[in-house]
Amino acid sequence: MAVKNIGIIMNGVTGRMGTNQHLVRSIVAIREQGGVELANGDVIMPDPILVGRNKDKLQLLAEKHNISRWSTDLDECLADPHNVIYFDSQTTVRRADAIRKAIEAGKHIYCEKPTATSLEESIELAKLAYGAGVKNGVVQDKLFLPGLLKLKRLIDSGFFGKILSVQMEFGYWVFEGDWQAGQRPSWNYRKEDGGGIIVDMFAHWRYVLDNLFGNVESVSCLGKTHIPKRVDENGNTYMCTADDAAYATFELEGGIVAQVNSSWTVRVNREDLLTIQVDGTHGSAVAGLRECKIQHRINTPKPVWNPDIENPFAFTEQWQTVPDNQVFDNGFKIQWELFLKHIAAGEPFPWDLLEGAKGTQLAELGLKSWEERRWIEVPELSLEVRKNGEAVNSAR
Ligand SMILES: NC(=O)c1ccc[n+]([C@@H]2O[C@H](COP(=O)([O-])OP(=O)(O)OC[C@H]3O[C@@H](n4cnc5c(N)ncnc54)[C@H](O)[C@@H]3O)[C@@H](O)[C@H]2O)c1
Repeated sequence: MAVKNIGIIMNGVTGRMGTNQHLVRSIVAIREQGGVELANGDVIMPDPILVGRNKDKLQLLAEKHNISRWSTDLDECLADPHNVIYFDSQTTVRRADAIRKAIEAGKHIYCEKPTATSLEESIELAKLAYGAGVKNGVVQDKLFLPGLLKLKRLIDSGFFGKILSVQMEFGYWVFEGDWQAGQRPSWNYRKEDGGGIIVDMFAHWRYVLDNLFGNVESVSCLGKTHIPKRVDENGNTYMCTADDAAYATFELEGGIVAQVNSSWTVRVNREDLLTIQVDGTHGSAVAGLRECKIQHRINTPKPVWNPDIENPFAFTEQWQTVPDNQVFDNGFKIQWELFLKHIAAGEPFPWDLLEGAKGTQLAELGLKSWEERRWIEVPELSLEVRKNGEAVNSAR
């Protein structure tokens, strides 16, 4: 058994996602478990170098997690051949430039979504990576949530019969920052800084819908900026220039209708911050982040509309819980492990920059639908780019 150290530049690692999910829950957890074992018995050990602007923050974070390498000089990290992967969880607007540099330096790329703020730029990154022959991947963590894995299990078993519709409710109240601090970064509410719930969440909805139910074929979206002013991390009031809620309908392959509400201005009266209800001819399911409940056609009650009497049904109690039947690890960590195996042993990793570009595409078309107040078709992105780094984005 050989241990292979893999140098990983982690940029944006002092942020919310960078610290919690990518550093602590993924890379540190992988190091603590003794690395990732390959099929031949060799072990990959991630060797991160934490990169950012603030020396003190980096040093503190590195010391806290027993990491020896940190730097404020990205160029120097890129020039070091020991580092073979460039990872980016900076704010979205900063990502494309850094990825371009990393590709030029011959690094494999792994990054947060959205890969960029425009489809053109997202595709350019995919082309550059494939053109340079570097491996690449994008975080698609929701696919690995226990609730969604259970949904996938139900789909694979044929439980639903023909799937008719999907309703997704995502969101929670994000405090305005005046009398209680906001629990999301203020750039999320400024378009010019890459903010907006459509840009943020449609990147997720694209891969969730495509992978579970069928490719998204068209979109109708209404966005809103419900809260016009917020207070930032430094106590300064700012104008919100980005959408904080989106009310969308998608048509999927096979005629499935998906209604998806995304909101940072909603108070939660459901079982989780994200719930997905799927209705099929033979059964229905409601999944949250971890749990999933089902109702089969043979357990379906027969209500009759009559507001003159007390409701005789306890509807929410008429569902059964899908058992775990397996141990669920953190979704970000699972994807990191798969990416590391992809790098070290060429194992498959389908969630590449082109898949990431599809998320940006849906966000862009959602914004366009809102602006033009109409349904918009979602053109298929050509897969040619994977072969030769050449032209993509041909219409269906
Ligand atoms: N996969 C998911 O579920 C998920 C969830 C939330 C956010 N994200 C994505 O992760 C990324 C980061 O989001 P976050 O919520 O962690 O944001 P954040 O504001 O908490 O962190 C952003 C990081 O970028 C760095 N940064 C910001 N401005 C910079 C500058 N001018 N120069 C250099 N570095 C700078 C910050 O220091 C920090 O490390 C975003 O692209 C976001 O879309 C993904």
